[in-house]
Amino acid sequence: MLISVIGCGYLGATHAAGMAELGFDVVGVESDPTKVAALRDGRVPFYEPGLPELLSRHVEGGRLRFTDDIAEATDADVHFVCVGTPQQAGSLGADLTYVDAAIESLAPLLTRPTVVVGKSTVPVGTAERLTARLAELAPAGTEALLAWNPEFLREGFAVEDTLRPDRLVFGVTHDRAEQTLREVYATALAADTPLVVTDLATAELVKVSANAFLATKISFINAMAEICEKVGADVTHLADAIGHDKRIGRKFLNAGVGFGGGCLPKDIRAFQHRASELGVDHATAFLRDIDAINQRRREHVVELTRELTAGDDSPRVAVLGAAFKPDSDDVRDSPALWIAQKLHTDGYDVVVHDPEAIGPARAKLPDATYTEDLDEALAGADIVLHLTEWPVYRQIDPARVATLVRHARLVDGRTLLDVPAWRAAGWEVRSLGRP
Ligand code: UDX
Repeated sequence: MLISVIGCGYLGATHAAGMAELGFDVVGVESDPTKVAALRDGRVPFYEPGLPELLSRHVEGGRLRFTDDIAEATDADVHFVCVGTPQQAGSLGADLTYVDAAIESLAPLLTRPTVVVGKSTVPVGTAERLTARLAELAPAGTEALLAWNPEFLREGFAVEDTLRPDRLVFGVTHDRAEQTLREVYATALAADTPLVVTDLATAELVKVSANAFLATKISFINAMAEICEKVGADVTHLADAIGHDKRIGRKFLNAGVGFGGGCLPKDIRAFQHRASELGVDHATAFLRDIDAINQRRREHVVELTRELTAGDDSPRVAVLGAAFKPDSDDVRDSPALWIAQKLHTDGYDVVVHDPEAIGPARAKLPDATYTEDLDEALAGADIVLHLTEWPVYRQIDPARVATLVRHARLVDGRTLLDVPAWRAAGWEVRSLGRP
C-alpha cells in the first residue's frame, strides 16, 4: 500500500515517519521548500525526541520520500491530510485555508477508488463539506471516499503516540473506508488498541471535545490555585488528594502558568466559534472561562514579578523556559514567552534560557537576550521565573545559584521546585497556588 501524507509539519512529518515504520511506502507532500529540503535530507525541522532517528532511517532506506509536488501522490491508495488549522487572524475560528487547498489540489488526481483521510483538527461539519467537494472535483467521483481519523499525539511524545496510540477513532460513511483504515492500523489493532468506529461529525467532535476537556482540567486546578493562594493552602496537595479519586485522576491537574501550544488554546476558541455558528453557543460558554482562567495565570506571574521587584531600577529577569512545554521547541501561544514579552514591554531587562526553543523564541521576540547557558541567564538577575518544566531546572542547586544573582527572588510558575530548599538557601519564593 502506498500512503501519501499531505502537510509535513509536526503532525504530518511524524505521521509519515510512523507509517513508514509500520512498513508502508510513504510520500510526504509539503509546500514549504525549506521543510522539504530538510526532510529529504532526513532532518526534522523542529525538535521532537526520537523522530530524527526514525525519519532518517526510512528516508535512507527508501521507504519514505518527500516532495513539494502533489502530483507525486497520484498513485497513493490512501491520502492523509495533515495540514494545520491555525486560529484565524481577528477571529476565534479556525483557518481552513490549508485544508481546503489540500482537497482542491488533491481531488483532480483521484482517478480511481481511494480513501482521503482527514487528520487535521477541524470544526464539526467540515468533513461533510469536503465529501461533497471531493465528489464534485475527483474524476473517481464518489469512489474517492473521505474518512476522518483524528490524531491525539502530544508534542514530546509524538513518536510513541503515533506508533502506540491509546485509542483509534475512525469516522467513516462507507465500509471500504473502514476496511482501509483497519489495514493501515493493523499493528495497533492487533495490540488491542481500543477502536471507536463512528460517523464523520462525531469523529471531528472527538478531537475538539478531548482537547476542551483537557483544557478544562488544567483551568479547573488553576482556579483552585487562585483560591489556595488567597487562603495559604497548597494546590499540589489538593491535586494529589482529589486525583486519588479514580473518577478524577491526577493527570492534567498540574497547576501553574497554564496551557499553551498549537492545539489547546486555538481548539477551545474554534470550538466556541463553531458552536456559535451552529446556534448552540450556550453549550460551550464555559470555555470562555477556561480561557480566561488560563490567561489570568500568565498575568498573575507578571503581577508577582512587579510586586517582588518594586523599587528596583530596570530590573533584570531570568526567564527559565520559552517552549510551551518541555521536550518541545514549540513557542506557539507559550505562556513563558507571553510573560517574557510582557515584561520586556514593561521595561525589564529580559534574559531567556531554554534548552531547545531559542531559535523559534527569538523569531517571535527578537529584542530579549537569549542563552543556552543557565548560569549566564541567572547572572545578575533580580528575579528568576520558572516557566517551562524542563527537568534541568529541578536540578538547580539554589545555594550555588544564589551567589550568581543580584536578588535571590523566584517565582515558580510550574509548582515543581522544592520551595523549602530554595527558601533555606535564602530565596524569597512565590509558587503559584502554594503558600
Ligand atoms: C495536546 C493534547 O494533549 C493532544 O492529545 C493533542 O493531540 C494536541 O494537544 P500538546 O499540545 O502536545 O497536546 O500538549 P499537552 O501535553 O496536552 O500540554 C498542553 C499544555 O498544557 C502545555 O502548555 C502544558 O504545559 C499544559 N499543562 C498540561 C498544564 O499546565 N498542566 C497539566 O497538568 C498538563
